[in-house]
Amino acid sequence: MKHLTSINDLTRDEALAVLELAKEMHDVQQRPVKKLPALRGRTVINLFFEDSTRTRSSFELAAKWLSADAINISAKGSSASKGESLRDTLLTLDAMGVDAIVMRHAGSGSVHQARGWVNTSMINAGDGTHEHPTQALLDAYSMGADLEGKLVSITGDLLHSRVVRSNVLLLQKLGARVVLVAPPTLMPAGVEHWPATVSHDLDEVLPDVDVCMMLRVQRERMLGGFFPSEREYIAFYGLTAPRLKKLKPDAMIAHPGPMNRGLEISSAAADDPRSIVLNQVSAGVAVRMSVLYHLLAGE
Ligand code: CP
Repeated sequence: MKHLTSINDLTRDEALAVLELAKEMHDVQQRPVKKLPALRGRTVINLFFEDSTRTRSSFELAAKWLSADAINISAKGSSASKGESLRDTLLTLDAMGVDAIVMRHAGSGSVHQARGWVNTSMINAGDGTHEHPTQALLDAYSMGADLEGKLVSITGDLLHSRVVRSNVLLLQKLGARVVLVAPPTLMPAGVEHWPATVSHDLDEVLPDVDVCMMLRVQRERMLGGFFPSEREYIAFYGLTAPRLKKLKPDAMIAHPGPMNRGLEISSAAADDPRSIVLNQVSAGVAVRMSVLYHLLAGE
């Protein structure tokens, strides 16, 4: 495994190996001294052309806790702001001899394209509305060991979501069943060909799910009116306090963040004892340590 630009880069066994090693990395994360020497002398660049809290900081921590050197570059402080092309930026970093570039970019498919330009390992930290593979891996890790036969609902702005694409691919590989819930205007084109069922009725779906994942309404990617009002969206698709009663007592509530509290998810739901939102954040470091280890240190 040299690159991770899509969940399709991983076989089921490779995905399971990443999740298995993440357990050991999670143990390291709980220690007072978190350093492992595994990637000493290696260099990881975080190249982010879009904002991030969780992904960028967890990749930086993951690299540092594996003793790699980590450098953060954002669009604003780089020569991209002077008009340098993405290809030239990547060729420049590649020429310095770095070992991995973790890239987030607004262009769907941009990280995959970059693979063909550079010798270094490319890791997709979110490319437009295409994929976010490490998010799906950390989501699966947070949902627990055996997902075979489990029912996972993914509700929200699926049209603009890269998380949903990676999650559907990974959850299917791991044997889970996925139901996608959104208004018709926020369903991706061609969703009928995805390995998932589709619903427009959250109330009908909630009682059966083992994991209820809510996705952010991505106002920044919305050019038109995809629903009449936020009030109506909440009424039909928000995980409100009254809707929590429909979930099984042992169901999990997940959200990749950042959350719009009061829109797709209420504070009652985000802070409910069944919420795994902060477990997902914690798993992000362990899973990204595992990914970096697999890519840069081999088997
Ligand atoms: N879930 C996620 O990708 O969060 P950030 O945008 O904060 O990285």
